[in-house]
Amino acid sequence: MSWTIDSWKDKPLAQEVAYDDPDALASAVAKLSELPPLVTSWEVERLKTSIAEAQLGKRFVLQGGDCAETLLDCKPTIIANKLKILLQMSMVLVHAGKKPVVRVGRLAGQYAKPRSNPTEERGGVVLPSYFGDLVNRPDFTPDARRTDPRALLDAYSHAALTLNFVRSLTAAGFADLHHPEYWDLGFFTRSGLPPELREEYMQTTARLSEALRFMEALGEMTVDELSRVDFYTSHEGLNLNYEAAQTRKVPRREGHYLLTTHMPWIGERTRALDGAHVEFFRGIQNVVGVKLGPKVDPQDAVRLLTRLSPTNEPGKLVAITRMGAAGVERSLAPLVEAVTRAGRRVLWMCDPMHGNTQATSMGIKTRNFDDILREIERSFAIHREVGTELGGIHFELTGEDVTECVGGGISEADLDKNYASVCDPRLNYRQALEMAFRIGSWMGKPR
Ligand code: PEP
Ligand code: CO
Repeated sequence: MSWTIDSWKDKPLAQEVAYDDPDALASAVAKLSELPPLVTSWEVERLKTSIAEAQLGKRFVLQGGDCAETLLDCKPTIIANKLKILLQMSMVLVHAGKKPVVRVGRLAGQYAKPRSNPTEERGGVVLPSYFGDLVNRPDFTPDARRTDPRALLDAYSHAALTLNFVRSLTAAGFADLHHPEYWDLGFFTRSGLPPELREEYMQTTARLSEALRFMEALGEMTVDELSRVDFYTSHEGLNLNYEAAQTRKVPRREGHYLLTTHMPWIGERTRALDGAHVEFFRGIQNVVGVKLGPKVDPQDAVRLLTRLSPTNEPGKLVAITRMGAAGVERSLAPLVEAVTRAGRRVLWMCDPMHGNTQATSMGIKTRNFDDILREIERSFAIHREVGTELGGIHFELTGEDVTECVGGGISEADLDKNYASVCDPRLNYRQALEMAFRIGSWMGKPR
């Protein structure tokens, strides 16, 4: 089956955005295709090598960030705090799991959202839904909700600004990272945290600080070197106009590279075997993620993974399961068994967010900390039972003090205090850090 950058255009396109001005779209895409790439092919290949090692159980992957990034939130503190929480979580996981952690942000391009409903109704007014800042804007006005192809260029610029700042922060060394004494460990004292856990977390933190001081004292690495970290980007590869415009051949390498991000993933709503998204993503060299929900047929998943990587290339595929705490027991094992039996090489990750979305009695979209935890815990256990390994976790989180998910210190009554997400509810700084400590305690202990 031959593939070209445009061969997806002959396939059914799920979640298609209706652009009403084809000339404006063509000119935005033409401009985008001339601009420099956001990432490079050698970074993509380095990530693939790391994912291949993770597939062998030698690394763990932490992926996280906003459900939907917005252009308005392209601000230094928001970006730095998001990076900080991911790096701090990764340190806890490195310490607990005794293996390197690959950090992948949902950032610098997480601007496109699939929607279950193409329109939204409020008080009798019907407007197009918000499809992410790559397409339109969240305010409920006809002007904001109009699809505008120039948004593709705006989003690209903001992705570049974000990534530029992230690259500076990670290259220069992030002092906070290696000093747990600077972390906000306020959740240690939240009411409702069992004393045994508090004691365990305090010991972990002390041991982590000690280990880091020890490495510094050895003098073999300065804090600067220690904290210079590899950090990769990812986003849902939803808008194929955007992705295709930045897909190209590069000197001295085979094949085509998608250069808006290191690791695009295909969402649950766009992974049809014969659809446009699978057609596009089967042709690129990047590591590709695929979301798999509780309704997936295991044999369909095998066909999908085979289509995306017929050569079974190491490091190529990441299967991100999002079954929900209620569905994980029934759905995960048959899927993992079928994929394993078929000999498909994947890294298994768990997204404990998207199968656990619920609405409060007031109609607020939220997720429960304990459901999230349970899905992760069960995923670790089910993989062990099947004889495979859970190799990474995918979170929606932010470094800010938002109140979007309940549990872990936030009650339903707190939700309206600072509900800032334009899409799905995210873990806040403390909830996310606590999550890392919880996961760490399972990774560290033989069960
Ligand atoms: C997401 O990751 O924000 C998302 C929409 O996930 P899924 O495709 O798994 O529903
Ligand atoms: Co989401």
